[in-house]
This record gives sequence, C-alpha cells and structure tokens, in this order.
Amino acid sequence: MINIAVFASGRGSNFAAIAQAVRKGDLKVKLALLVCDNPKAPVLVKARKAGVKTVLVNRADFPGKQEFEGAIIGHLSENNIDLIVLAGYMRLLSADFVKIYYGRIINIHPSLLPAFKGEAGIRDAFEYGAKITGVTVHFVDDQVDHGPIILQQEVSIKEKDTLVTLEEKIHKVEHRIYPEAIRLFGLGRLKIEGRKVRIINRKVLQR
Ligand code: GAR
Repeated sequence: MINIAVFASGRGSNFAAIAQAVRKGDLKVKLALLVCDNPKAPVLVKARKAGVKTVLVNRADFPGKQEFEGAIIGHLSENNIDLIVLAGYMRLLSADFVKIYYGRIINIHPSLLPAFKGEAGIRDAFEYGAKITGVTVHFVDDQVDHGPIILQQEVSIKEKDTLVTLEEKIHKVEHRIYPEAIRLFGLGRLKIEGRKVRIINRKVLQR
C-alpha cells in the first residue's frame, strides 16, 4: 500500500473526501501525512478529527523558499511518502522541488485545464459566461495548474446556476474523481508519456 501526503492551505473538503474514502476502504492507500502551510486553515481541524498526522510548515518561519521546502522534504522522507496530493495548496512548488518528485505529485483544479487556471477557477468560468466547465486532476510540473492530465470531468453551467450552485456541483465532482485518480496511481495504472498520461487497463469509471 502506498503512503500519501495531502498538501492543503484552506478549507480541506478534498482532504476530507480522501480521508473518508480511505476510512471506508474504498481507497486502499495510507493517508500518512497532512502538510499545511496556513496556521488558520480549517483543514487542520479536519485532520485532527480524522486522526491524520499533521505538520504545519509556515513559510513565515523560514528565511527563504529553499529552507521552507527543505523542511517539507524532510517530513516527506521521514514518512516514506510515495505520492504528494495537492488539495487546495495555494503555493507554487519550486522547480527544484518538482524535479525531485516529478511523476509523484498530483493536483486538482476546478476547471477544464488549460482554461481558467489560478486561484479562482470556478468564479472565472462563471463570470466568463462559459457553458461548460469542470474539474481536472493532473501531474504537477513547475507551472501553475499545469502538467500531464490524468482525469477530467465536465460540469455544465445552466442558466439557473449561481456561483454557489456551481461551486457545489464542482466540489461534488472533485470529491469523487480525486480519490479515483489516487486509486489509479496506487495501482500503478498511470503512465506519463511525454505530455500525456496513459491509463492502463482502465475500467469504466462513470457512476
Ligand atoms: C478546490 O476546489 C481545488 O480544486 C482548488 O482549491 C479548492 C480547495 O478546496 N484548487 C485550485 O484552485 C488550484 N489552483 P478544499 O480546501 O475544500 O479542498
């Protein structure tokens, strides 16, 4: 069974969905660590309640990014982490960090990448008047919300949708497809081939 570390900075609904999938036995990985960079993040409370080992690595406590990421790397090595799962981790990983873990870091983003990157993917699609948006899970490279795409699922934006109803629809999809992507990684089914990901022996996912 692989060891995963979730990185989160805020609310932690994706962390909670992953923790629940693990607890229910739907996702056979060890949720070994939560790495959080924000002392005020609600995800810290969620992790405590779920009994998940947590480290708070506050950027303000380090002179530079290199030292900050060095501390994180120490925690990852100590806990034998096989996969880093970014779940609302609102900080760009350095090229050096990505070089060490490339192919073992995944991210979720609430749009159909490459559209609507950044911190407000749901709002940006809504305000743009897009009719279709969605969710993307991808391997991480050193650019923001960028790297080989693992899973994508579309979400339609209807006339009657508000930003709130759209957010609900997006999060519901996120909470389903992120555990699925982790499951596929754990089974060794994801192969990066250049800019693309091939999913080996993929059974039909749609429920
Ligand atoms: C999620 O919607 C995730 O897709 C997004 O942050 C949210 C975190 O929510 N990530 C990005 O926008 C990355 N650019 P959560 O803390 O409730 O899981």
